[in-house]
Amino acid sequence: MSTVIPIAAPPRGMPLLGHALSLLRDPLGVITALPAQGDLVRLRLGPREIVVVCDPLLTRQVLMDDRTFDKGGALFERAAEVLGDGMVTCPHARHRRQRRLAQPSFHPSRVSGFGEVMADEFDTASRSWHDGQIIDMSSELATLTLRIAVRTMFSAALPPDAVRGLVTDFSYLVESAMRRTLAPRSLTRIPTPGNRRYERARLRCRRVVGDLIAERRAEGTDHGDLLSSLLLAQDPNSAEGPAAMSDQEVSDQVLTFFFAGSETVAGVLVWALSLLARHPDVEARLHTEVDAVLAGAPVTTADVPRLELTGRIVSETLRLHPPAWLLSRVVTRDTELGGVPMPAGTEIGFSPYLIHRRPDLYRDPDAFDPDRWLGTPPARAAYIPFSSGARMCIGDRFALLEAGLALAAITSRWSLRQLTPHNPRPSMKGMLSPNEMRMRIVARPRADGGGR
Ligand code: HEM
Repeated sequence: MSTVIPIAAPPRGMPLLGHALSLLRDPLGVITALPAQGDLVRLRLGPREIVVVCDPLLTRQVLMDDRTFDKGGALFERAAEVLGDGMVTCPHARHRRQRRLAQPSFHPSRVSGFGEVMADEFDTASRSWHDGQIIDMSSELATLTLRIAVRTMFSAALPPDAVRGLVTDFSYLVESAMRRTLAPRSLTRIPTPGNRRYERARLRCRRVVGDLIAERRAEGTDHGDLLSSLLLAQDPNSAEGPAAMSDQEVSDQVLTFFFAGSETVAGVLVWALSLLARHPDVEARLHTEVDAVLAGAPVTTADVPRLELTGRIVSETLRLHPPAWLLSRVVTRDTELGGVPMPAGTEIGFSPYLIHRRPDLYRDPDAFDPDRWLGTPPARAAYIPFSSGARMCIGDRFALLEAGLALAAITSRWSLRQLTPHNPRPSMKGMLSPNEMRMRIVARPRADGGGR
């Protein structure tokens, strides 16, 4: 790595907003055009400038050194307004302790226990649909995955109307995330109806979570859910702070899990259902697999390892449509990347979407081909839907289990037809998910000729 890689600035930047408007209008078009400009490309977003890393090995270098390339940048600053100092947003200095305290919550045995809640939600929802019904899968799945996040976090502690309230408020916060990230900070402080609604939703979420923490502390019993696990966690190596989490830390972590763990899974599922609707050959093979494994019974966690094609469909969907499509870091000390000096304070962007669509890493990269996962897996730097290094997603197992259960529960009963035009525009929420995905629910014929 001896050559100096030039930092190019793509055209189409406007004098004041830079590339923010083009990013809002056509985020994926802007991002996928970057590698042709160089391995490091400068983008201007209003007053800020970010250097986007387009090369997989340089991206990996950034991810492996989370002390030099720390959390930071516009995206995380705005996310921290809602999430506080939770695990996704906190800097390196506070990260290791948080991760150690949260790790038991994501122990494989605990995660497989959550499979029951996940299967129950998808089973109940998909049973309630009827033949010919038209559903916006984008909002249906956003609600379902957030309900699962709330139930796995709090077990039965919240009454149904409080779950609904939390789901509505939180959905609004997520929906506003990217818009607020790209807007100048001064605009987000003006008391417009949208900003006021955002603030009310934020405060309500905090209050509900704060009340539950106070109740649990007073009770002192283990409910077997994520909240209990966070309240009971003790850090054996507590040199970096108190051994247990404070109420504020638990509250930040709860909101972080809602944020990181619902819209992401919903996005993958919506895209997977859309891809299946557009690839009937793959859908037919999936039906055969699901029928053989489930044999007419509701799906359970124990079925997931045998749902092999289902797993490959999830992997391929995460490659084509990684929900966390653009992430940022900030350089904490003068350094270099790919031979280019990076002074402290430089904002770095990296994009799993961009890496996953590189033709030098994937044959026919825009094609949906779950069978590409049959052979040798791609190099570690080439597939990063969950990121990598110390800040890698802690909920990957949770997400893969949820996605597998959801696809099996839905496709065991229904075949979905896409009504929203093909390749719908992704919304500029915090995550990469389609704005709307209207689908017609069609009952699958049973072997005996009847519907299910
Ligand atoms: C398909 C679903 C998911 C995807 C694609 C995804 C993706 C990611 C990515 C890319 C990161 C790293 C961000 C960065 O490097 O800046 C991350 C971090 C994180 N994710 Fe996920 N995630 C998913 C599901 C979940 C779930 C279900 C949970 C929790 C229940 C979760 C909790 C977290 C947390 C707490 C972090 C921060 C980890 C740390 O910094 O130590 N995620 N996720």
